[in-house]
Amino acid sequence: MKLCMIGTGYVGLVSGVCFSDLGNDVICVDKDLNKIENLKNGIIPIYEPGLEELLIKNYKNNRLRFSTNLKDSISKSDIIFICVGTPTKKNGNNADLSQVYNVAKEISKSIKRFKIIITKSTVPVTTGDEIEKIISKKVSKKLFSVVSNPEFLREGDAIRDFTYPDRVVIGTHNKKSNKILKNLYSPLISKGAKYVNTSRRAAELIKYASNAFLATKITFINELANLCEKINVNIEDISIGMGLDNRIGSRFLRAGPAYGGSCFPKDTKAITATANKFKTNLTVIKSVIKSNENRSSLMLKKVFEILKNKIKNKNICFLGVTFKANTDDMRDSSSLTMIPALIKKGAKINYFDPTGEKLDFKKFNNVTFSNNIKDAIKKSDLIIIHTEWNDFKNINFKKDVKNKKFSIFDMRNIYSADKMKDNKIKYFSIGN
Ligand code: UDX
Repeated sequence: MKLCMIGTGYVGLVSGVCFSDLGNDVICVDKDLNKIENLKNGIIPIYEPGLEELLIKNYKNNRLRFSTNLKDSISKSDIIFICVGTPTKKNGNNADLSQVYNVAKEISKSIKRFKIIITKSTVPVTTGDEIEKIISKKVSKKLFSVVSNPEFLREGDAIRDFTYPDRVVIGTHNKKSNKILKNLYSPLISKGAKYVNTSRRAAELIKYASNAFLATKITFINELANLCEKINVNIEDISIGMGLDNRIGSRFLRAGPAYGGSCFPKDTKAITATANKFKTNLTVIKSVIKSNENRSSLMLKKVFEILKNKIKNKNICFLGVTFKANTDDMRDSSSLTMIPALIKKGAKINYFDPTGEKLDFKKFNNVTFSNNIKDAIKKSDLIIIHTEWNDFKNINFKKDVKNKKFSIFDMRNIYSADKMKDNKIKYFSIGN
């Protein structure tokens, strides 16, 4: 099969590389010439373990190509994946679909034989209907089929999530497309992935519903962690006790800071916007959004309590500033709310992140980056564990922090409270 991925962001690039590794011919297209040139040289724009090696291997084998020529790439391909961004619109909660519709218009100019056009980007319900309308203005419906095939990969685990998905969702009632796509995914189905063939609208909604449900699970456990702190119960025990019920499941029950990233905040808002459009009120998801938005203020309140409200001139160290470990992505990271608020109160922030210095903080005078953990923590009054990188798990705080009165606020519960107590370190965690 000849595949074309339009857009080399997270979804497009990872899926393109992984599809080529399954033996398909793949062209990844992007209008950003610089990005395409870098990709040809094996330089990837994101931090994703294993991706660079896989890309270089398949590029050398000529199964993977990169291009800025959309027209040519479309005419050479059998299956076209739309993988462009669908960010939240500036005013409101709706997803901005301008890039998706522009691509649909471009596609409509280059169809001469049957093509399957797939939305892999997360798109609101009925987007597939719109794409079909746009293309059918120029092309006979016999020559194309628009299918929804959402991607469920997580940053940091993207290759594994692509290769061993729990399920492959194909939204189409077109028999020919369904047969071709089942065949395309057969290497993953034979490894255990469940194949779900459903309507296009249902597939579109499955993606939003899944992300909104996971966000709900996290928010639920975060709120319970607040309760645990008041009643001398450990949230970890609650997560274990609940998670062992197969109906609930243990994953995504880790309490921590506000969830962030490129999907949960955006998709929870977009699904409520879709529901509003169809005059339905998704009250659960709306309160999840609100609760998560309040969470960074709650975390700040904890910091103030730990420092007894004496924030001015305090040296606060953040270990990890991205929205989670194993990614360099800062999108909707709670550090973007917490750090400016702490500076406003007069704190001096020093941070270390395994993925390097972040542009987001360059504009602040009182924020400095250290390029190793020891330098980052040595002068700290308070060390905040913001993400759960393995690099942070074996730090010798007693030896490396020079200020003997320091405290630790472990927002990811990566340390043992008992060990900290034995070492006489003032230790605060979440839901404990
Ligand atoms: C998510 C979905 O998991 C993925 O299926 C979808 O395709 C894209 O969005 P991603 O944004 O990469 O993936 O990150 P994920 O690992 O899901 O974490 C999202 C946020 O939830 C992070 O801020 C993370 O720290 C937080 N989280 C996750 C928790 O606080 N607790 C958990 O138990 C799990």
